[in-house]
Amino acid sequence: MKITVIIGSPHGMHGNTGRLVEEVMAGLGAAAELELIDLSTLHLQPCLGCDACHKNGSCRLPDDYEMIKTSLLTCDGFVLASPNYIFSVTAQLKTLFDRSSSLIHCLALEGKYGAVAVTSGGAEHDELLRYMVRFINSTGAQSVGSVSSQVSGRRSFPKQAELFDKARELGSELCRCIREQNHFPDQAGYRGSFKARMKRLVESRKDDWDFEFQYWQEHH
Ligand SMILES: Cc1cc2nc3c(=O)[nH]c(=O)nc-3n(C[C@H](O)[C@H](O)[C@H](O)COP(=O)(O)O)c2cc1C
Repeated sequence: MKITVIIGSPHGMHGNTGRLVEEVMAGLGAAAELELIDLSTLHLQPCLGCDACHKNGSCRLPDDYEMIKTSLLTCDGFVLASPNYIFSVTAQLKTLFDRSSSLIHCLALEGKYGAVAVTSGGAEHDELLRYMVRFINSTGAQSVGSVSSQVSGRRSFPKQAELFDKARELGSELCRCIREQNHFPDQAGYRGSFKARMKRLVESRKDDWDFEFQYWQEHH
């Protein structure tokens, strides 16, 4: 099974979030083929809102987005990791979310599973976790859970042993859900209504958004 791990911290794997992600990755186990995507080392420009991806299925900005998209489309599961930056994800990860608009319109990650890892200076990250899980559900994927903590120092956390156990459990849970193709009934309501909304949206733009309309005909 293939797992894509995307870290949105400007410190990459060397920061606090990277330390927590190390433990999630440790829990994935040897059977997982891992692709680590460190946004701090990649070139990713903000979305221009040009609709090219909706029309043609690919972005015209010459950067690393298409490589990241391919990794997400070919994985079985993915991990999204970010520090809390003003109650949200970092600009790096938000840029990726915006650039993923066509994946969202097409529910292109349906059948896959996602997990979330977050660190913050304080303990208030519920809003951020909900947002990241909502992103996962909006791509069509199901969320297997999250791990989050405030920090107590550089790459250290209060109740660290417990936290790292939880992070490793999240990694192994992601693999288990992929193996067993688990279903999360608590996410079905949102995913179902969002899918219906995307279907209506793409149908309403079928004369413009050739790629997405075709995708819906072939995949849903
Ligand atoms: C620009 C910026 C904004 C931040 N905003 C918040 C915030 O709103 N709430 C919070 O608890 N911590 C905030 N923090 C602290 C980081 O979330 C925290 O230090 C995190 O662990 C950094 O992870 P990293 O080392 O992977 O970059 C902020 C830090 C920076 C640099």
